[in-house]
Amino acid sequence: MRVGIGPFGMALVGCGSAVPAASISNQQLGERVETSDEWIRSRTGIGARRVAGPDEPLTCLASRAAQLALDHAGWTADDLDLILLATSSPDDLFGTAPRVQGALGASRAVAFDLTAACSGFLFALITAGQYLGSGAMGRALVIGADQLSRWVDWDDRSTCVLFGDGAAAVAVEACGASDNGLLGFRMRSDGSRNACLTLAQLDRHAPLLGGLTAQQGGFAPIQMNGQEVYKFAVREVPAILAELLEATGTTPGQLDWLLLHQANQRILDAVADRFAVPHAQVLSNLAHYGNTSAATIPLMLDEAVKDGRVQPGHLLASSGFGAGLSWGAALLRWSGPRGAAQP
Ligand code: UT7
Repeated sequence: MRVGIGPFGMALVGCGSAVPAASISNQQLGERVETSDEWIRSRTGIGARRVAGPDEPLTCLASRAAQLALDHAGWTADDLDLILLATSSPDDLFGTAPRVQGALGASRAVAFDLTAACSGFLFALITAGQYLGSGAMGRALVIGADQLSRWVDWDDRSTCVLFGDGAAAVAVEACGASDNGLLGFRMRSDGSRNACLTLAQLDRHAPLLGGLTAQQGGFAPIQMNGQEVYKFAVREVPAILAELLEATGTTPGQLDWLLLHQANQRILDAVADRFAVPHAQVLSNLAHYGNTSAATIPLMLDEAVKDGRVQPGHLLASSGFGAGLSWGAALLRWSGPRGAAQP
């Protein structure tokens, strides 16, 4: 039991992001599949998405985002104890976080991947919070990075219009109660609905020897039952946020921002309406990036911090949701770099 000394929580003190150079507009996608800017915008709010080229592997995007978060926090790579990389599209199934650690030169840090699709960043942030809040570690980078352009079927209009590539990172450190930026959280999974959204191993086998058959590696493109996932999101996200607000004694009116996974503008609006949060307080960058999976929440946070919308001391209700199915929510307070003025 804590006796009032030592770490207690986790402060959010820096952020950074990196997206691929190439952007594909809705109109351009219409040259490949039968779709239109009007359909995509009205159903999703998406106007364009970034797509990584061959010289922009996930490691490169994640490392750039991570370095920018270190710079923003005023840290060096040597300060890091932990690098958590939330991704479902690693460069290496054995783990991409160590590659990021190597690129940063963060020799003291342990680095590993965490996979929970579009809930990945939120789950990773909460996970980091446990190491930091317990006092086991001092400083961490939590990265959300995905490159689902590798895994969509570019001839399937029901999915290819939705996803984009990107990476973003948040620098977090152990702190006392007064600076704590993870004020509460909830996490859920429901594997019985796993088939709604998958990027699954191919059912491919080859004879090995002596009558034995071995499975061969490889994954099928993303498959999604869009309507089921939509219904899941508009039911479960408000429910888990309501639970979180109640548990933390927070009213929607106290929130400065809703920072939700960027999957569909209609989902963002439905959640805001449920809590009577003005749409102007719902952060959205879907128009530019689409759904970047584990990257959406930190990418959105970085944009809003850097353009001054999110200020030190602001309270944000965040929710991630997606494949698994998985979903979660966290009540966050942004601190910003140490030394930044508090309101
Ligand atoms: O990050 C994780 C999560 N993923 C999500 O949160 C996705 C949740 N789901 C959604 O956002 C929506 O379900 C979609 C945006 C994916 C689809 O919107 P919808 O309003 O549910 O459309 P629908 O699937 O019911 O399709 C309606 C029609 C169909 O045509 P018919 O059968 O009515 O003739 C589709 O074939 O729209 C057609 N359609 C398209 N038309 C033009 C599907 N995709 C497209 C397209 N362009 N890209």
